[in-house]
Amino acid sequence: MARHAVRIGVVGVGKLGRFHARNLRTSVPGAELVGVADADPVRTMSVAEELEVIGFPTVEGLLSADRLDAVLIATSTSRHIDVIEAATQRGLHIFCEKPIALNEEETTRALELVEKAGVLLQIGFHRRFDRDFVDLRERIEREELGRLYWLRLSHRDMAGPDPAGYMELDGPLLVNVTIHDLDTVRWLVGEVAEISVMGGSVADPRYGELGDYDHAVITVRFENGALGVIDNSRCAGYGYECSAEVVGSLATGRISQPPASNLSMLSAGLETRRTLADHTARHREAYIAELAAFIDAVATGAESPVPGADGLTAFSLAQLAVRSAQGSGRHLTVDAELSPLGLVYTELDRVRS
Ligand SMILES: NC(=O)c1ccc[n+]([C@@H]2O[C@H](COP(=O)([O-])OP(=O)(O)OC[C@H]3O[C@@H](n4cnc5c(N)ncnc54)[C@H](O)[C@@H]3O)[C@@H](O)[C@H]2O)c1
Repeated sequence: MARHAVRIGVVGVGKLGRFHARNLRTSVPGAELVGVADADPVRTMSVAEELEVIGFPTVEGLLSADRLDAVLIATSTSRHIDVIEAATQRGLHIFCEKPIALNEEETTRALELVEKAGVLLQIGFHRRFDRDFVDLRERIEREELGRLYWLRLSHRDMAGPDPAGYMELDGPLLVNVTIHDLDTVRWLVGEVAEISVMGGSVADPRYGELGDYDHAVITVRFENGALGVIDNSRCAGYGYECSAEVVGSLATGRISQPPASNLSMLSAGLETRRTLADHTARHREAYIAELAAFIDAVATGAESPVPGADGLTAFSLAQLAVRSAQGSGRHLTVDAELSPLGLVYTELDRVRS
C-alpha cells in the first residue's frame, strides 16, 4: 500500500529555515510542505509565495493545520523551546536545528516534553549525512585506519554575525558553531576525556565586548587515547570551510575542502578558483539527506536518526568548552555520565568533590 506523504510545516524561515523549506518543497521524497510561519510576517509571505505554500500568520496556526504530521524548527535558538512545547502538545514529530536551546534547563525540558509526548525528535547535525564524513566513519568502524592517533577539524565561516543581538538569540561561538564539531568528533572517534579551549576576538573586538570570540582552538584527548584539535573561525574571509583529517596507525583519512566549481583560471604563475561561500553550498546534499532521513523515520515509525540525546550530549560538552575558554584554556578532565535523557558531560573534579 502506498505511504501517504508526511505533512510538515517549517517554523522560522530566516537564512536556514528558508533553505530547509525549499528542500522540503523540491527535493525530499515523501515530504509535503504544508506551510511556513515566522515571527516576521514579511518573511513568512515571501517564502510562502516563492514556494507556493500557505504562509501562516501565527506559529499556532501552522501547528494546528489539518493533518500535520511534523514540524521543522529553525527559529533563532533561544526561541526553539516555545515551539517544541507547542508541537509536543499537538503530538507532532520534530526536526529541530542545533543547539536545542541555549541553557541546560531548556535543553532538558525539551527532551522531557518529547519523551512524554512520544514523538520523534531529530537534531540538525547535518554532517552526519555528508557522504564523505559517513564514508570516513564507516572506514574507522571497519578499522581501516587502524588505531586512531589524531584528528583535526577545521570549521570556518566567511563572515561572522552582526554583533547586535546574536548572543541573546543564538548564543556564543562555542555553543552555536563548535557544537557541530563536538558532535562530529564524538561520532567519528568516541567520547572525550580531556578538553582545553582558547578563544579570542582577534578579528573584531565587538565579539570580545560581548564575552564571545571570533576564533577558537579546541584541543581534546579522547577516552581511547587519541588526540584532537578543532579550529573555528567566524570570519575566515576567503569563504566557508569544513575539512577534516583522522590519522591512524594504518591509514589517514582526509576530507579536503571541495572546490566550488571545476573551473580554475590560469595565468602567469597563478591559478585561481572560486571558494564556497557558506555551509549550504558546502553541504547541500547532506542537508537534503538529513531531511530525507527524518521524513523516512516519521513515515516508517523508525528511531530518530539523530536523537535529542545527541543534542544534549554535545551541548553539555560545549558548556564545558565555554568554561575552559573562560579560564583561558583551563584544562578540564571530563566524563560523559549516563543520565535518564542521555550522556551528559561533567567536569570530573566537580563530580568527585
Ligand atoms: N545546521 C546548521 O548547519 C545550521 C546553520 C545555521 C543555523 N543553524 C540554526 O538554525 C536556526 C536558525 O538560524 P538562522 O541562521 O536561519 O537564523 P536567522 O536569524 O536567519 O533566522 C531565524 C528566524 O527565526 C524567526 N523567529 C525568531 N523567533 C521566532 C518565533 N518565536 N516564532 C517564529 N519565528 C521566529 C526570525 O524572525 C527569523 O526569520 C538556529 O537555531 C541556528 O543555530 C543551523
